[in-house]
Formats: sequence, C-alpha cells, structure tokens
Amino acid sequence: MIKLITDKDTLSLRSTVLRNGASEDDCIFPTDGEGFHLGRFVKEKLVCIATFFPEDYPDQGAGGYRLRGMATDSAFAGKGYGAQIINFAIDKLIAENASYIWCNARSSAVGFYKKQGFELISDEFEVPGIGMHFNMMYNLNRI
Ligand SMILES: CC(C)(COP(=O)(O)OP(=O)(O)OC[C@H]1O[C@@H](n2cnc3c(N)ncnc32)[C@H](O)[C@@H]1OP(=O)(O)O)[C@@H](O)C(=O)NCCC(=O)NCCS
Repeated sequence: MIKLITDKDTLSLRSTVLRNGASEDDCIFPTDGEGFHLGRFVKEKLVCIATFFPEDYPDQGAGGYRLRGMATDSAFAGKGYGAQIINFAIDKLIAENASYIWCNARSSAVGFYKKQGFELISDEFEVPGIGMHFNMMYNLNRI
C-alpha cells in the first residue's frame, strides 16, 4: 500500500539508503515542510520513500515539482516498489495540474528513472560528497 507519510517517517530510510547511516537530523531537507512524502508499505513496514515539493527547473517553465529522497530498503529492492511510488506521484500531480517532475538523479539510478519515463536534461555533474548525477525530467503534460 502507498500512502502519504510525514517528513519524520522518511528519515530512517534516507539515513540508511541514501546517507550512509548519517544522523537523522542530517537527513532533513530544508524543504521538508513543503510538498508531500510518499511511503510504500509491506504489511506494516515502510520499505520505499520519496519526497515531492514545488520547485521549477531553470528554463522548463512553471508548475514544476522536484523529487528528492527516493530510496528503497535494499532488502526490498527490485520488487517494483520504487516504480509504484513514481506512478502514484505522477497520477497525483497530474490531478493537481502540475507540469513536470524533475530530480538530481544519481548516475547509478539513471536506468531506473528512464524506465519510469524520465529523460535526461543535463550533462553529468558532481554533487560533492555524494557523487555523479544527471538532471532528469518527467513531462506531466504528455497525455
Ligand atoms: C534506485 C531505487 C530507488 C530503485 O528502487 P526499486 O524499488 O529497487 O526499483 P523497482 O523495483 O521499482 O525497479 C523498477 C525497474 O527499474 C529497474 N531498476 C531499478 N534500479 C535500477 C538501477 N539502479 N539502474 C537501472 N535499472 C534499475 C528495475 O530492474 C525495474 O525494471 P523492470 O521494470 O524492467 O522490472 C533503489 O534501488 C535505491 O533506493 N537505490 C539506492 C538509492 C538511490 O540511488 N536512490 C535514487 C537517488 S537519485
């Protein structure tokens, strides 16, 4: 089941999957009070998360949402949960008349986002301390 979760609910998976066990305080995003957070549960266990908040990407116009903190518990990876969260967010944001979703995609995750219909919109760049990334975008006005 996918449902809205709180910013605090995301911190444990952000820490273990994305930040190498950093303290939960260090896994708070400044924008956590904006937008929404989604969680995929297996029984009662939260196994996959993502955060979406309003932020336009340069030169792509208004109505943008940024995706951050996409993470699946490694014990539950490859089961389709990440794709389910993206599809849930796409449906929700189309219903809310948003125009596009964009993200800083880790280079290692580009294949995942491509499978969900995202396209590359930048050259590769480094995020210090985290690694190489591309900007990617999903156009919500395509249908
Ligand atoms: C990337 C990540 C979120 C994918 O989540 P997931 O729940 O394992 O993904 P899914 O099972 O829904 O995969 C959907 C499809 O993408 C593919 N896929 C998943 N991760 C992939 C990757 N890193 N590269 C290429 N393809 C990938 C799957 O094989 C599957 O393909 P299929 O539709 O042909 O079966 C997860 O592996 C993760 O948390 N990785 C570490 C943190 C990370 O990199 N987060 C993204 C930061 S930008």
